Amino acid sequence: MNRTQVAIIGGGPAGTLLSHILRRHGVESVVLERRSKEYVLGRIRAGVLEQGSADILREYGLGDRMDREGQAHDGVYLAYRGGRFRVDFRELAGSSVMIYGQTQVQKDLYDVVDAEGGVIIDEVEDVRLHGLTDDRPAVTYVRQGVEQRMECDFVAGCDGSHGVSSSSIPDIVTYERNYPFGWLGILSETPPIAEELIYANHPRGFALCSMRNPMLSRYYVQCDIDADVSDWSDDRFWEELAARLPDDAVTSLVTGPSIDKSITPLRSSVAEPMSHGRLFLAGDAAHIVPPTGAKGLNLAISDVVYLSRALVDFYASGATRALDAYSDTALARVWKAVRFSWWMTTLMHRFEEDGSFGPKVQEAELEYLSESPAARTAMAENYIGLPL
Ligand code: APR
Ligand code: PHB
Repeated sequence: MNRTQVAIIGGGPAGTLLSHILRRHGVESVVLERRSKEYVLGRIRAGVLEQGSADILREYGLGDRMDREGQAHDGVYLAYRGGRFRVDFRELAGSSVMIYGQTQVQKDLYDVVDAEGGVIIDEVEDVRLHGLTDDRPAVTYVRQGVEQRMECDFVAGCDGSHGVSSSSIPDIVTYERNYPFGWLGILSETPPIAEELIYANHPRGFALCSMRNPMLSRYYVQCDIDADVSDWSDDRFWEELAARLPDDAVTSLVTGPSIDKSITPLRSSVAEPMSHGRLFLAGDAAHIVPPTGAKGLNLAISDVVYLSRALVDFYASGATRALDAYSDTALARVWKAVRFSWWMTTLMHRFEEDGSFGPKVQEAELEYLSESPAARTAMAENYIGLPL
């Protein structure tokens, strides 16, 4: 019979970071992941780490490659009405963010888990949770056609937005907003357009210029919710991007073949509560934010910090206070990031249903931000990340 202290469902950033932090504190876990390791490591996701997230990664020995290859950014540009202004995080909020892809974070996590003898079982099917309100919970799953059973003290549901864990919480309530558009994103081996990110509000729709390193750029344009990637040639993408950026930026745009192109729908969603008996949700399993503001990975990290502290407390002293408070503690921070992502999404995108009124209010707010250090400070402190 298999047994571990914490059974972790899902080997994305939330599940693997939780496993790693727990091991550093002497708590054992097993990660059960539905996909293959190659698949998990090949996924392209966001690329901005809050200062607090970067500090956590450093604290747990995951900072070396990030500090070597990542770039600290002290601000971002907001573009509208043909011009742009900068929001200076360092001046306004005393800190910066780290540009380092989630794909890299995920690889660093798998490497450290492997190096330190952690257990990630991949390609598992039909994961089911049992006995969550008993003292002896268990997880069953099928691997290579054989059903297995893992007994545990706790289950961590880190299985993303399509996982099984949240559906094991009987009276869960989901608060949701679906946005009527998506982001079409490309990755290209070209130098970034600017030294910092540019978020652009434009009558043709939102655009974002981001990057991974000095020869790898990530660009997005707002697209129809039912857009088809095959209708978007590279040429069409570059033309559309250029049309939405200020002229002074476009002169520095270097185009090239895309090495990845995909569409992401935008939505906000929060499930409450984030725990049930001995099950605790973390990351996308409990909440989704639209990518504007890059909070998804950072929220997964903050959930894992709260949950690992609570589990470590329990194993050190038998105290359940932090575990009992976990859902409320995590949700308080989650909702503030949900609010910020919603605010930035609402400020920067074209909403057809808002007619001609919406863009006027957006322009007024962008002008106010450009003029008011107080308004920019509010944005800066949320962008760099609220305290953990
Ligand atoms: N059984 C086992 N594993 C599962 C199951 C299941 N039934 N369902 C899903 N999974 C796995 C997925 O294959 C995935 O690898 O759970 C993992 C969840 O990982 P993520 O989706 O990356 O979610 P999370 O770890 O919470 O990380 C959040 O990822 O989606 C981005 O924007 C998000 O940046 C944020 C971060
Ligand atoms: C990205 O680089 O993929 C990225 C950056 C900032 C965002 C969203 C995505 O707000």
